[in-house]
Amino acid sequence: RVPVPALLQRPADAIVRPQAAAHPRIPLPCDLFAPERRNSRGVEFGARTALDQLLTDVKAETGDLKPIADATPDQAHAAVAAARAGFAGWSRTPAGIRAAALEQAAHLLESRSAHFIALLQREGGKTLDDALSELREAADFCRYYAAQGRKLFGSETAMPGPTGESNALTMRGRGVFVAISPWNFPLAIFLGQVTAALMAGNSVVAKPAEQTPRIAREAVALLHEAGIPKSALYLVTGDGRIGAALTAHPDIAGVVFTGSTEVARSINRALAAKDGPIVPLIAETGGINAMIADATALPEQVADDVVTSAFRSAGQRCSALRLLFVQEDVADRMIEMVAGAARELKIGDPSDVATHVGPVIDVEAKQRLDAHIARMKTEARLHFAGPAPEGCFVAPHIFELTEAGQLTEEVFGPILHVVRYRPENLERVLRAIERTGYGLTLGVHSRIDDSIEAIIDRVQVGNIYVNRNMIGAVVGVQPFGGNGLSGTGPKAGGPHYLARFATEQTVTINT
Ligand code: NAD
Ligand code: ALA
Repeated sequence: RVPVPALLQRPADAIVRPQAAAHPRIPLPCDLFAPERRNSRGVEFGARTALDQLLTDVKAETGDLKPIADATPDQAHAAVAAARAGFAGWSRTPAGIRAAALEQAAHLLESRSAHFIALLQREGGKTLDDALSELREAADFCRYYAAQGRKLFGSETAMPGPTGESNALTMRGRGVFVAISPWNFPLAIFLGQVTAALMAGNSVVAKPAEQTPRIAREAVALLHEAGIPKSALYLVTGDGRIGAALTAHPDIAGVVFTGSTEVARSINRALAAKDGPIVPLIAETGGINAMIADATALPEQVADDVVTSAFRSAGQRCSALRLLFVQEDVADRMIEMVAGAARELKIGDPSDVATHVGPVIDVEAKQRLDAHIARMKTEARLHFAGPAPEGCFVAPHIFELTEAGQLTEEVFGPILHVVRYRPENLERVLRAIERTGYGLTLGVHSRIDDSIEAIIDRVQVGNIYVNRNMIGAVVGVQPFGGNGLSGTGPKAGGPHYLARFATEQTVTINT
């Protein structure tokens, strides 16, 4: 049942594709794809030269990738004790000085872009495109939290004094914050957590993912060089056992965690089981993210956005699209177009500038994804399976499910699940999304404003994207984070984030 044209409130040509320039991102010197770098015939010139130079610089980065030893639980405890000792000095450091160190960190990151891109490719398997946007996001976090921190922590807030007393509210750090991060944004999320906690006046013990300790080590060295005292920031490497040792420590004042829902739950239990002060947990976790495309959506746009959302970064984004609901009337055509667009993706060596989809993070991830694909082949209809080279690669796959409930957990890779729906059953679609229990991202493709508004009103997810792809939230522009099984709600890169790392103190003086 295709809606009659009178219902189309938004003509096709009124939907404008966002341009890079429309996003007020903080530019990097290596912002290679700037559209203005074209001659009068539209041929890129400066951009190509800059890209060639960057690729040469990245290739020249041949530093060693020898394994980094894990810390022992005793070393983890010693780091907490040292950070506790460092807290007093750092929390009294004026907010302006703390902010200046973060701004210097952003500057150092940008000036070493080739080095960090090479690391992101070699340790994290990132494509050039992904590594560049991660670097930009990391620098954006440093600058954004510096700017927010100056406002929040720079001076006290005078409160009304109707009784003749003077009342003032100040915000300050809580103590030692433990920052536990995942491998999929080993630079941006690692630095985002650490800089937010530091800006709020906490000392920090950072525990990166065991898959990406080198990037974390270099990021910590860069923060120290930028002016964060060594006594305020410690790195502890190791796997989940070290993370658990840190969260069990009696002297920590807060935990910021990004990773799987299962681990967030276990940290929550560990914190609740401890005696002593109640320790807050900021948890940002995964999602079974859906997109709804109705019969009025523009098929080419849907195909492009679905492929970007489901397969870019090899599907290893918490925001990635997992479940596509397509209106039955247009489903065959849309699936065909998405498969056609997926066929164009180049999968392989992330250091090759032409690659769209790089490897998955490790052999265990590949085995988990291969097992899911094998199960789907028996339970669902396979529409597309791309080619994948030998090694730690998983080809993009498109499966059609008979019902959304067949997908019961987050599948962290380039596998898209499609479900057809009849327009009169939109409510069932929304209930299916709700039943996943997650609430991270949602995509909507439609030209009917009333449907868009009804969906936005009804669905409780953290980030909703309308008529565009659903990945790559921009710091300070699209605050990012979810609800329910997707996290405790704070929005990274948003104006309220830093307050979650702080305590507030009211001082009343009877003058
Ligand atoms: P993970 O949960 O396996 O590990 C995350 C971190 O927790 C690692 O540093 C790990 O060593 C540590 N850890 C493991 N067990 C622990 C324990 N018992 N106590 C303390 N720490 C422990 O996640 P991952 O595989 O590294 O990352 C992928 C997951 O992260 C996906 O679920 C993805 O959706 C999620 N993610 C969420 C966001 C977001 O902003 N919401 C962003 C990126 C990734
Ligand atoms: N913040 C990342 C995104 O939006 C995870 O894709």
